[in-house]
Amino acid sequence: MLDINEVLAKYGTGDHGGFHVRVNFVASLDGAVTRDGLSDGLNNEDDLIVFSALRRLSDVVLVGAGTVRAQNYRALRLSSESVRWRQEHGFPPHPVLAVVSGDLDLDPGLRIFANPPHRPLVFTTAAAPAGRAADLADVAEVIRCGEPAGGIDVAAMLGELERRGLRRVLCEGGPRLFTSLLAADRVDELCLTLSPFLEAGTAGRITAPGPHAGWPMRLGHCFAAGDMLFLRYFRDRSAGPA
Ligand SMILES: NC(=O)c1ccc[n+]([C@@H]2O[C@H](COP(=O)([O-])OP(=O)(O)OC[C@H]3O[C@@H](n4cnc5c(N)ncnc54)[C@H](OP(=O)(O)O)[C@@H]3O)[C@@H](O)[C@H]2O)c1
Repeated sequence: MLDINEVLAKYGTGDHGGFHVRVNFVASLDGAVTRDGLSDGLNNEDDLIVFSALRRLSDVVLVGAGTVRAQNYRALRLSSESVRWRQEHGFPPHPVLAVVSGDLDLDPGLRIFANPPHRPLVFTTAAAPAGRAADLADVAEVIRCGEPAGGIDVAAMLGELERRGLRRVLCEGGPRLFTSLLAADRVDELCLTLSPFLEAGTAGRITAPGPHAGWPMRLGHCFAAGDMLFLRYFRDRSAGPA
């Protein structure tokens, strides 16, 4: 099994105080992002070690409402071992959780809102229903970023995170949110676990349907644990889109 300290060293941000958006996904060898609608069947213990190491290294975990609903996300509360490690390395005890939703179809009773160490942020647009925003305001801070037609204004949302000092952003998906970040060319890094299955079927990819981009990426590292492959790529801004 992977050693968490070795994983933390491999994924350390080489932090120079800049704003950085890292995205993490697991996919099958043929590119499926889910099995039976969830990522659970694709990951294993080693992938969960990488998943938790990436959380440990973040100031904020950004996730789309579709993933929150599908995966029934829990409140973002790290283990006591992670909290100790973060405090020794100059991080606050827990990262902040930020959810992106257009329609605010998020029940305030969801377990993601149950007793979190930080009040979650919910980013939405000017068109979001006022009643739902008011209900959610009991359990989260609702921030409107973006006009009705265009979805979330990615630059404004990331600007708001930066303004709050949340510079090390970890996006845990899903595909639609990833595609919005990509369309704005705001993905600095992709961590991709390749899971040793050929899923076939109808599952989607890590990106959602949308305009073609073709952004070049540069390999940061690649290592295996059993048959699982862990890839780290950086956006190569020395070249334009393909
Ligand atoms: N394999 C993996 O590593 C992995 C990781 C994450 C998720 N997943 C899977 O991916 C599936 C979910 O896919 P998804 O594409 O629906 O996930 P998603 O990106 O998490 O959620 C999509 C929803 O997020 C909100 N959203 C995202 N981008 C937005 C934007 N630019 N403007 C406004 N709202 C925005 C909208 O919420 P509203 O509907 O509330 O308006 C939208 O319907 C699940 O089956 C999950 O298990 C897999």
